[in-house]
Amino acid sequence: MNPAPRTVAVGGEHPYAITIAPGLLHDAGALAAQVRGRHALLVSDANVAPLYAAQVREALHRARADLSIGTFVLPAGEASKTLAQFGHAIEALAALGASRDACVFALGGGVVGDLAGFAAACWMRGVDCVQLPTTLLAMVDSSVGGKTAVDIAQGKNLVGAFHPPRAVFADTATLRTLPARELRAGLAEVIKYGAIRDARFLQWLRQERESLLAGDDEALALAIAASCEHKAEIVERDPLEQGERALLNLGHTFGHAIETEQGYGSPDNDNLNHGEAVAVGMVLAARLSAALGMAGEDDAETLRALLRDYGLPTEIPAGLAPEALLARMRLDKKNLAGRLRLVLWRGIGRAEVVPDVDEAAVLAVLRAG
Ligand SMILES: NC(=O)c1ccc[n+]([C@@H]2O[C@H](COP(=O)([O-])OP(=O)(O)OC[C@H]3O[C@@H](n4cnc5c(N)ncnc54)[C@H](O)[C@@H]3O)[C@@H](O)[C@H]2O)c1
Repeated sequence: MNPAPRTVAVGGEHPYAITIAPGLLHDAGALAAQVRGRHALLVSDANVAPLYAAQVREALHRARADLSIGTFVLPAGEASKTLAQFGHAIEALAALGASRDACVFALGGGVVGDLAGFAAACWMRGVDCVQLPTTLLAMVDSSVGGKTAVDIAQGKNLVGAFHPPRAVFADTATLRTLPARELRAGLAEVIKYGAIRDARFLQWLRQERESLLAGDDEALALAIAASCEHKAEIVERDPLEQGERALLNLGHTFGHAIETEQGYGSPDNDNLNHGEAVAVGMVLAARLSAALGMAGEDDAETLRALLRDYGLPTEIPAGLAPEALLARMRLDKKNLAGRLRLVLWRGIGRAEVVPDVDEAAVLAVLRAG
C-alpha cells in the first residue's frame, strides 16, 4: 500500500499545494481537476515522455473525456532550454487552439519545468501551469516558487518570468528510473537548504547519506518534504526575489558561470549538470566567505566533505579559465549597478547576501579552485 501523501502549502498571493507521494501520475481525479477549460498541453522531454506521458494522458482522458490534449516533447538536456524550443512550445499551444483557461502540464525535470512554465506564463499573457516533476532536483527546487526561464548563449535563465504553478504533484515513484548521477544532482540542492538555513538538516543528511543515495523511498520523501517546506517558507515571503529569496542561490553564481562557460550539459557531453555545478559553486562560495573573514575554513571543509561523500564534484572542471568565469559572473541577475552581489555565508546554516564583493578576492578563489 502506498504511504499517505505529504503536502506542503505554499502561501502568498497565488497559493498552491505541493503533493508528494508515489503514484500521483495515475491520480486521474486530482490531475484533471486542475484543468479549468478544455485544453491541456503536456510538455515533456525525450527521456521522460516514453516513460510517463501515456499514463498522464490516459489519466486526464479517464477523468475528462472532453479534454483536447496536445503533447510537445523536447530533446532531453539543458541544451534544449532555448528560445527556439520555447517557440515550438508556443506553436504547440497555438496548434491546440488553447484558450485562456488552458492548462500546461510540465512533466519532467527542471529543464521541462522552466521551459513549460515560461510558455504558460507567455501564452495569452498567462495560462495555468501544473508541475509534474520527475527529477529529485525538480521536486525539491525548480517546480516550486514560480521562476520560469530559458537560457541564451550569454547566460543561464536570462529570459523568463515569475509564474507560480497552479499545483505541484511530485510522484516519487518516477525517481526509480532516474539515473544515479541525476539523483546526486538533486541531492546537491537538498544539501543547499541545510547549508543556507538549517544546520540540523545538514546533520540529518550526513546520517541518511546511504539510504538517500540508495533511493530509499521514505528517506527521499522526507528530504523532499523538508526541502519544499524550506523553499515554501522563503518564496511566500519574497516571491519576486527582492530580498531573502536570493539566499536560495548559494553557489549558483559560480555554478551558472561554470555551466555557461562549458556550454551547458547534455546527454552527449560530460559537462557538469546543474546540480553538480551548484555543488562546486557552494564550495567556492564557502571558500570565498572564509577568505573574506566571514566564516572559518573548517566550515568550508565540512561542506566540501559532505558533497564529496555524496559523490558530487567539488572542484572547477579542468580547462575553464578563472578570468572567463569571472566575466560570466558579472552578468548574473543578482548583480546591481555593475557590482558583484553574491550569496556567501557566516558558517553552516547562516547564508547572507553580500553586495559589492571584491573581484580580486573572487578571482583568487577561482584560481585556487
Ligand atoms: N525555476 C527554478 O527555481 C529552478 C531551480 C533550480 C534549478 N532550475 C533549473 O532546472 C534545470 C535542471 O533540472 P534537472 O536537474 O531536473 O535537469 P533535467 O530536466 O535536464 O533532467 C535531468 C535528466 O534526467 C532525465 N529524467 C528526468 N526525469 C527522469 C526520470 N524520472 N527517469 C529517467 N530520466 C529522467 C531528463 O531527461 C534529463 O536527461 C536547470 O535548467 C536549472 O536552471 C530551476
